[in-house]
Amino acid sequence: MADFVKVATVDEIPEGTFKAFKMKHHQFIIAHITDGFFAVADECSHDAAPISEGELYGDEIVCPRHGARFDLTDGAVKSPPAITPIDTYEVKVVGRDVLVLLD
Ligand code: FES
Repeated sequence: MADFVKVATVDEIPEGTFKAFKMKHHQFIIAHITDGFFAVADECSHDAAPISEGELYGDEIVCPRHGARFDLTDGAVKSPPAITPIDTYEVKVVGRDVLVLLD
């Protein structure tokens, strides 16, 4: 059963940054962009590179290996060579805590 799990406080992920997490059997990043906090899998859909080693550009994350870009709000591919979206996780902020829905 999926539950929201506290992974950080809002102060730990200032706007314009992201952090990587390993929890339960999930590896993901949480990015703090203009529209809020968003979580996506820490694995590029092109060739499984850890996107946590990439860079944030606005609301997109760039894969460090071949430069694919993904929209952090929905995991959509914004630039090739990836063609498949990356997984996303539901995030909510309660008070000062950032929680992610994990099964
Ligand atoms: S592994 Fe990410 S673009 Fe190739």
